[in-house]
Amino acid sequence: MNLPDMKKAKVRGEEVIGYYENENVTSKQFQGKKYFIRTYGCQMNVHDSEEICAAVENLGFSKVEVLEEADLAILNTCAIRENAHDKVYGYLGRLKHLKREKPELMIAIGGCMPQQENVTEELMKKHPYVDIVFGTHNINELSKMILEHVKKQEIEVYSIEGNVYENVLYKRDSSITAWVNIMYGCDKFCTYCIVPYTRGRQRSRKMDDILKEVQSLKNQGYMEVTLLGQNVNAYGKDLENPISFAVLLEQVALIGIPRVRFVTSHPWDFTDEMIDIISKYDNIMPYIHLPLQSGSSRILKLMGRRYTKEEYLTLFQKMKEQIPNVAITTDIIVGFPGETEDDFFDTLDVVKQCQYDGAFTFIFSPREGTPASKMKDELSLSIKEERLHRLNELVNASSNLKNQAYVGKVVDVLIQGVSEKDQNKVFGYTETMKLVNVIADKDTIGTIIPVRITDAKSFSLDGEAEYSKNN
Ligand code: SAH
Ligand code: SF4
Ligand code: F3S
Repeated sequence: MNLPDMKKAKVRGEEVIGYYENENVTSKQFQGKKYFIRTYGCQMNVHDSEEICAAVENLGFSKVEVLEEADLAILNTCAIRENAHDKVYGYLGRLKHLKREKPELMIAIGGCMPQQENVTEELMKKHPYVDIVFGTHNINELSKMILEHVKKQEIEVYSIEGNVYENVLYKRDSSITAWVNIMYGCDKFCTYCIVPYTRGRQRSRKMDDILKEVQSLKNQGYMEVTLLGQNVNAYGKDLENPISFAVLLEQVALIGIPRVRFVTSHPWDFTDEMIDIISKYDNIMPYIHLPLQSGSSRILKLMGRRYTKEEYLTLFQKMKEQIPNVAITTDIIVGFPGETEDDFFDTLDVVKQCQYDGAFTFIFSPREGTPASKMKDELSLSIKEERLHRLNELVNASSNLKNQAYVGKVVDVLIQGVSEKDQNKVFGYTETMKLVNVIADKDTIGTIIPVRITDAKSFSLDGEAEYSKNN
């Protein structure tokens, strides 16, 4: 097998050897073969899967949606909570069974799970039918591993450094909206969180490289880009010549893509300059995901979040006042070790005051190797579940109210495809990230149209294209 020459990649002035530019690994050895991919976890993984798909399609594989038809099955895994792990192990059971019937099936496990200490060893020992294990740091080596049928031993596991690669090829799921990584990893080390261990330390891409990618997406006709990172507003702090996220965001907005979004923001890194830039540019969407995690200053301190309840509320207020019609969503953890009823009450209090547009809520899940996993956790599961239930009631009430407020209004919606629920409708998102099912012609897909909102459901809106009235 003739492998292409290894390319050298420059990372902050250093030469790093071992990077195959994906576009060069084009062997058609697997022409006619099929692959299946299942992705767990956050947007980072969703975007990584776009890179994985490009890599395996360059080897000749074509994608199928039915596992049983595949010659190569890839699981892109998540490790954020115990149940994410459980889901993957459940799916592995299915793959094991399938491999018995079809021994030539190649099974590859990637993503955050293998980046954890001990997990790869466990996978190797308990699941010997798995052919390839790769992490988040060496997706670029996946082609090589498949071509050479490399087993898992060669992978880089539990790296806390990792590199920044450029010229990565993606097979983007959409031709309308696109993810753009602006950084990798995270330096915050919140005490409950596994991400800094699975994704490594923060590494920002150079602004010029990001701008080039966004410009190219604009040239291809993309309508929306989402700047992606675990903590986007810490962008640039680690660069040789540090720059701020606000500067990057403004430059991206100036490229002129109709919609610019970003996730996720950490309250500690949110500056007034960022608020100014968001309110200044019409194409920066008025939607911010601003994880709270807890409303109790005491618990926030134990979590290592670096802000108090009061500081969070002040920031929230500032955003509401300065960014017209901004929608804010959040993440909240209940049952952090030592959380008292009073602490939980503070969380409810913040939720009442903020009236979020939506919230993802979780029960604390101890992750091996994190400081919080060693903290004394005396709360029973039933108390945690009961708190989650109380919290969800409050969160749902405010997001329902926010949705109801749209009824009768006409809002701009970027139409993205045929509605899953009703083939006669199309779906899209408002500037504030509300999902809308719309009565409109299919040729509106890929355009922004005014939509009159006719009804509000818990997690979506219904509407009709405003222009149809005039036809
Ligand atoms: N980088 C983002 C999101 C990280 S993961 C941020 O900082 O906000 C997404 C969410 O999962 C977190 O916001 C947190 O609410 C939740 N989460 C992370 N670790 C968790 C754990 N050990 N147990 C329960 N929820 C957790
Ligand atoms: Fe995890 Fe905190 Fe980093 Fe978010 S900011 S990824 S919660 S360590
Ligand atoms: Fe999960 Fe890794 Fe994302 S742990 S949430 S897939 S960064």
